[in-house]
Amino acid sequence: MKICMIGSGYVGLVSGACFSDLGNTVICVDINKQIIDKLNRGIIPIYEPGLHELVIRNLKKKRLLFSTDVSSSIKKSDIIFICVGTPTKNNKADLKYVYNVVKSIKSNLDKYKIIVTKSTVPVTTGDKIEKILNSKKNLNKFDVISNPEFLREGEAIRDFQYPDRIVIGTNSKKANNIMKNLYLPLIKKGSRYINTSRRSAELIKYASNAFLATKITFINEIANLCEKSNIDVQDVATGMGLDNRIGSRFLRAGPAYGGSCFPKDTRALVSTGQIFKTNLSVVKSVINSNEKRNKILLDRIKLILKNKIKNKNISFLGVTFKSGTDDMRESPSLKMIPSLVKKGASISYYEPTGQKKQFKSKNITFHENIKDACQNADLIIIHTEWNEFKQLNFKKITKKRNFKVFDMRNLYSTSEMKKNKINYFSIGR
Ligand SMILES: NC(=O)c1ccc[n+]([C@@H]2O[C@H](COP(=O)([O-])OP(=O)(O)OC[C@H]3O[C@@H](n4cnc5c(N)ncnc54)[C@H](O)[C@@H]3O)[C@@H](O)[C@H]2O)c1
Repeated sequence: MKICMIGSGYVGLVSGACFSDLGNTVICVDINKQIIDKLNRGIIPIYEPGLHELVIRNLKKKRLLFSTDVSSSIKKSDIIFICVGTPTKNNKADLKYVYNVVKSIKSNLDKYKIIVTKSTVPVTTGDKIEKILNSKKNLNKFDVISNPEFLREGEAIRDFQYPDRIVIGTNSKKANNIMKNLYLPLIKKGSRYINTSRRSAELIKYASNAFLATKITFINEIANLCEKSNIDVQDVATGMGLDNRIGSRFLRAGPAYGGSCFPKDTRALVSTGQIFKTNLSVVKSVINSNEKRNKILLDRIKLILKNKIKNKNISFLGVTFKSGTDDMRESPSLKMIPSLVKKGASISYYEPTGQKKQFKSKNITFHENIKDACQNADLIIIHTEWNEFKQLNFKKITKKRNFKVFDMRNLYSTSEMKKNKINYFSIGR
């Protein structure tokens, strides 16, 4: 198959590299010349475990190509995946990048092509794209289908190669057959293939993300209750998670959910509800609760430091919204760190992916290693659950005698910390 991925970010690059690894010829296209120049030199612009090896292997086999030429890439391809960003604007999904791509597709439809939205797009977007592309000249030259992406950053390659499900939203038999054939190697390995309507596929993606965001928010609220009632939230999560109807995943209490998907997708889903005059009250209250989470954790920091944040040295371990990625979009640290600086704290931070330029204040300093980041800490905050933060000897990494640790990911056992005489605070216990 000849494929092009328009947009070579987390989704376009990973899925493009994986499709090429399945033997397809793939052009990953981006309007950002820097990204494409780097890729052509074998440099991966994002942090994603295993991606470098995969890209190099397929570059060498000349099955994977990188280009800034959107028009010629469309012309050369049978399947065009739209993988551009769909950020939030006024609480709605901003589709300007998607429609820019559709314009390019319209002027380059020379033969039958399948146009696939892999970007997360609100219900009816496929209908609108079809309307834009429809003209006498383009009759029978295309099908617009929805194929939402469910990969998780940090696990993206495995998620692509072994997906729980492949969702294809189309009523066109021809397009469905071609897509099933494209995904056949993954279906043969056991992945479920679901052909549904285009609108259903669009909603499956939003409903899935909203449900996962709800699970996180739910356990975060239960953690608040645990803190006040002397219960360990992890015992509660284990007890709940063993029920097959509930499942243990996404039941880890911690900071607010962040990242490039859950915050924007929950907001966009509420906005779709409004268009269809449907009150999605559960999703609304999840958004509301999640927004309050930063304030709850900041209050907790205040309490831990006995109301004395001014002139305190606070060290953050990890600033990304989760481990395994360098993605900083809507990371809770982006709100927490500036708030603490405003209250007079000095922040040192260490981030394994080397995010140096995220914060602009002379009171926020990036360090190349854990020890340098923590040596003067009054309070060490474990913000992201990177493996390298799981076995720290806190007394060795800081010089201060009365330092405290606030573990927002519950990486340590409270009894172990007590035994080691460390002033330790965690979430929901
Ligand atoms: N990141 C994830 O974990 C994830 C998972 C599932 C779904 N999604 C969805 O996939 C979509 C893409 O997300 P992402 O994280 O890969 O975004 P991203 O911001 O990492 O990448 C988007 C890329 O598209 C490029 N682009 C914009 N307009 C273009 C155009 N006209 N032509 C060519 N390239 C163009 C940008 O330069 C950018 O490199 C979003 O809708 C997102 O919600 C993301």
